[in-house]
Amino acid sequence: MLLHLDGDDPMAMNPVETVQLSHWESIPEPGVVAHALDALESGCVLRLPLAFPLEEGEQVVLSDALLDGSRKNISYDPATGRLKGCVDDPALAGRLRAVMARYARLSASLLDNLLPAYRGQLEAGRTSYRPAEIAGRPVRSWRRDDTRLHVDAFPATPVNGRRLLRVFHNLNPEGVRRWCVGEPFPELARRFFGQIPPPARWQARLLALLGLTRSLRSPYDHYMLQLHDRMKADLDYQYSAGRLALAFAPGETWVVFSDQASHAVLGGQFMLEQTFYLPVEQMVYPERSPLRVLEKLAGRPLV
Ligand code: SIN
Ligand code: FE
Repeated sequence: MLLHLDGDDPMAMNPVETVQLSHWESIPEPGVVAHALDALESGCVLRLPLAFPLEEGEQVVLSDALLDGSRKNISYDPATGRLKGCVDDPALAGRLRAVMARYARLSASLLDNLLPAYRGQLEAGRTSYRPAEIAGRPVRSWRRDDTRLHVDAFPATPVNGRRLLRVFHNLNPEGVRRWCVGEPFPELARRFFGQIPPPARWQARLLALLGLTRSLRSPYDHYMLQLHDRMKADLDYQYSAGRLALAFAPGETWVVFSDQASHAVLGGQFMLEQTFYLPVEQMVYPERSPLRVLEKLAGRPLV
């Protein structure tokens, strides 16, 4: 483990850092807290050997028959208790809801203790369950193909610069989840920025008017979506970009700012994910955020 407390040189970090916690509600030592925060804000993947045991009767969720039609994930809204994308079977849905609600709650506790700098500032988004095998799965379009390196960006829900912090867990009792992570954000931003047409206000207005975005797409959201799309569409880049292969073991948890860390999923089944949003101003090193990196390249504010 590399202990690194200097905010000026995030690239001295390994792309993956591990922290040991004994359970989801552990209170870590201050050194662990500083290390975790520095690693995450540098765009590293933070690995935690933290199991999320299923309770009696919950093994039924380990099946891709839970998926409704051709969807690849089931989402849960912790605020309303609503499940989306799950087959219409009240007993199964009830079990899955209990699992996802518990995952949402434990993910929030984990971040509350591991990242006290963000306490009270993280807003919980959807919980997601991906029970289908990724490897060999047909994809509807290159844009939706998460086996290609990308940073996360939402086409319909503008974030206006807010960060996307995600807690992932491999719920598969037997198989690994295979990922790879790519080059640091400042490098990929520099690589693609020159190809991106500047955002047009009329376009953002039209998208909102047509109901294609939930609110006006900010220039920041425009650049992030363009980065996401241009990375995925560029096959030369997909074949040649530097990357590190990772395999998350059964019962392993990992946390990452997925708007910053270039990533792709290559295989695996049964993964849980909880999304949190964080205002850039609440970061300890906001200059490392995609917003600030892109603003430097654009030479102007983007939200
Ligand atoms: C992604 O966020 O690109 C997908 C992650 C996964 O399904 O493992
Ligand atoms: Fe992604």
